[in-house]
Amino acid sequence: MTGDIDEEFLLLNPGPVPLTDPVREAMDAPMVSHRSAAFERTYERAQRGLDYVFTESTLDGHSTSAGGTSLILNGTATMGMEAAVANLVGPDDEVVALVNGKFGRRFARIADRYAEVKGVDVGWGEAFNLDAVTRAITDETALVTMVHNETSTGILNPVSAVGEVASESDAPFVVDGVTSLGGDVFCIDDWNVDVAITDSQKALAAPPGTSAMYVTDRATERVDGSRAPFYADLEKHLRKAADFQTPFTSAVPLVRALAVAVEAIEAEGMAPRIRRHRRQAKAFRQGFAAMGLEAFPETPGLTVRSNTVTATRLPIEIDPSDFFDAVKARNVSLSGGQAHLGGEIFRVSNMGSLADSDVSQGVRVVGEAMAEAGADVNGEAGLAAARDVLGSGENQVDGEGATVGAAGE
Ligand SMILES: Cc1ncc(COP(=O)(O)O)c(C=O)c1O
Repeated sequence: MTGDIDEEFLLLNPGPVPLTDPVREAMDAPMVSHRSAAFERTYERAQRGLDYVFTESTLDGHSTSAGGTSLILNGTATMGMEAAVANLVGPDDEVVALVNGKFGRRFARIADRYAEVKGVDVGWGEAFNLDAVTRAITDETALVTMVHNETSTGILNPVSAVGEVASESDAPFVVDGVTSLGGDVFCIDDWNVDVAITDSQKALAAPPGTSAMYVTDRATERVDGSRAPFYADLEKHLRKAADFQTPFTSAVPLVRALAVAVEAIEAEGMAPRIRRHRRQAKAFRQGFAAMGLEAFPETPGLTVRSNTVTATRLPIEIDPSDFFDAVKARNVSLSGGQAHLGGEIFRVSNMGSLADSDVSQGVRVVGEAMAEAGADVNGEAGLAAARDVLGSGENQVDGEGATVGAAGE
């Protein structure tokens, strides 16, 4: 036992995700001042690693940004989402917010506090209609917000295609890459992204409490910190980042852990890491399908299933709490649906540094728990299908779960 949890416990929630020992241990060091040279060196290491993740998340390793700054924020990604909106628009501005899940809705709700929102809403788990997006973005649009990987529904949205539309207007394009950055392809300039946001506790596999954002040089020119919350004034954050500091007291242990986590990502290399995430997500998808479960999201055209979060329908014949209790009894944690999707779906994550054996354990436990809850599933077929994917050594995934937008691959 460590604290309140058993070492054998397998955390498959879509964040926070399991930490490696070096990341955990980084937090256990004597405290230093956030204004010390020692801390500045830590910030610099974390920032350099974040630059790598934000700008080289491609399969061929090319850099996707002509210039920008990675910022570390004391606060989770919701703070980054709010900071991006509040620094780029004012009350009379129009924000086009794309909503097909809980986090797209969160972006719209944030924007509603600072500006006028024009929503492009479809059902949670459904694909956006690009014609509707094209009609919504006009010369009046001051900002476009979008979530790349919708964690609430396991969908990977077509940022590349929307970015192309957004680039025809003058509006900055702000993208939540919270559950894609560090685990899947993400392109800044190639997809016309002006600001990208991510969380520490997702595919970066660092502890929760901090987040990061990449502000391109073109977005920096448009930042007006005076209209943002004092704590989220990006002019201050950008100024201090140039000295490897945060404007206010830094979350020193968390930044230390973040530095180790992003250095581990660089050591693995984004391309192999993306291929590993795709392989593991495919194993979850195919494992669940082979046991007889139905995928949740609808993924026509450019919209595909996520390579980091797998959302699956709960069979109608079971009581969801029987299933979740049976999973818990097996020392595994996964997530149910959020908001109105509660009782309809379950979600597993393969973000971070999971071993293939963790993925097969997850598939096995879901099969056993479904059977215990009374679902008509073939757990053995599911496990065999997942192992086939994991054991095949295949790195490239075609069709479902492939990268959205060929640009930058
Ligand atoms: C897509 C997405 N955006 C934003 C967030 C930010 O949430 P929080 O600020 O609670 O970490 C999350 C967290 O789950 C997420 O999955």
